Amino acid sequence: MENLQKLINQFKEIFGSDDGIRAFFAPGRVNLIGEHTDYNGGHVFPCALDVGTTAIAKKRNDRKLRFYSMNFSEKGVIEVDLDGIEYKKSDDWANYPKGVIDVFQKANYKMDSGLDVLYFGDIPNGAGLSSSASIELATGVMLNHLFEFNIEQIEIVKLAQKAENEFIGVKCGIMDQFASGMGKKDHAVLLDCQTLEYTYTPFQLEDYALVIANTNKSRGLADSKYNERRAECERALEQLQKELDIDSLGDLIVDDIEKYKYLIENETDRKRAKHAVSENSRTLTAVDMLNKGDLDAFGRLMSASHLSLRDDYEVTGKELDALVEAAWAEEALGARMTGAGFGGCTVNLVKKDRLDSFIESVGKRYEAATGLKADFYVVKIGDGAREIQL
Ligand code: GLA
Repeated sequence: MENLQKLINQFKEIFGSDDGIRAFFAPGRVNLIGEHTDYNGGHVFPCALDVGTTAIAKKRNDRKLRFYSMNFSEKGVIEVDLDGIEYKKSDDWANYPKGVIDVFQKANYKMDSGLDVLYFGDIPNGAGLSSSASIELATGVMLNHLFEFNIEQIEIVKLAQKAENEFIGVKCGIMDQFASGMGKKDHAVLLDCQTLEYTYTPFQLEDYALVIANTNKSRGLADSKYNERRAECERALEQLQKELDIDSLGDLIVDDIEKYKYLIENETDRKRAKHAVSENSRTLTAVDMLNKGDLDAFGRLMSASHLSLRDDYEVTGKELDALVEAAWAEEALGARMTGAGFGGCTVNLVKKDRLDSFIESVGKRYEAATGLKADFYVVKIGDGAREIQL
């Protein structure tokens, strides 16, 4: 956060004065395993990153909301009336904070004044590392502190997801907002998305590093394909429920899917359900293996997760597959796509003493296969959303 002073200077330049400002931060996340299981009542195993969104904010004396993002400076200051918040395409990125403010108002957390807010994000946008959840959580935590709502962090997480579902219109599960809100330094968190019970698992690897690789393939159309996958799973669940007493696909074990697949009419829906169920079981086994210190097994399950996302869930695509295959060829202990898919990033377990050669060789293989250059980041696991003392 050594850039905080830069952000404060920028705030002063844009909004006139930095008297009484406060600062908030919410991280992005990387999911280690448990993909497309959250909205299916299964488990996920993400961790928060040490990069994310910082918000510098100050209450106003009127009911205007004024937003500025250093990442979208060309959009200038976006101004909205607190009493007339509605989704507007032209407000672009500012729909995220607007959405959070809107759900807070509707949940009766009423703000008694407007705000000036400057945002700065150091996660690549649209790379599947939850830059949007991090803006939402930074906003939620900011409102909670500035207006002294006294809301528990888990409630802020739920409100942020609601904003994304209802205001933005992306029917995401709870994972991203949860990881950004509840993450813990040097830990991954196993979350049961049905009950919201969770446990932190230390994730400090002696000889291995976690490496995120960005395909730099933009995730065009990802939101509509995401919603389509959700609908396919919901249809499969409804058909299974005709004979089975279950609340979600997360209630099934792998054998059930084979046994009851005749209940699911459509072959595609069957494959989607198979992924949701097998991924949930892989996630639980993977966390078990990690707790036993069997990192090899954890890595193998990561790779199996990718295959299931490629073959059964069909959310990988040429670039993610090429980047994962390159990592496998360069002896990653485990490699898989992370996040929603259709582009974005992979996550890799790599021997620390081979890091440089891994990054170089995987980069070359990926470029040869796709013509694109990948970016690599060695992950540091950080804490969840919070106020930063100035
Ligand atoms: C996106 C969504 C999450 C989750 C993942 C896939 O990141 O926001 O809720 O469904 O995709 O695991």
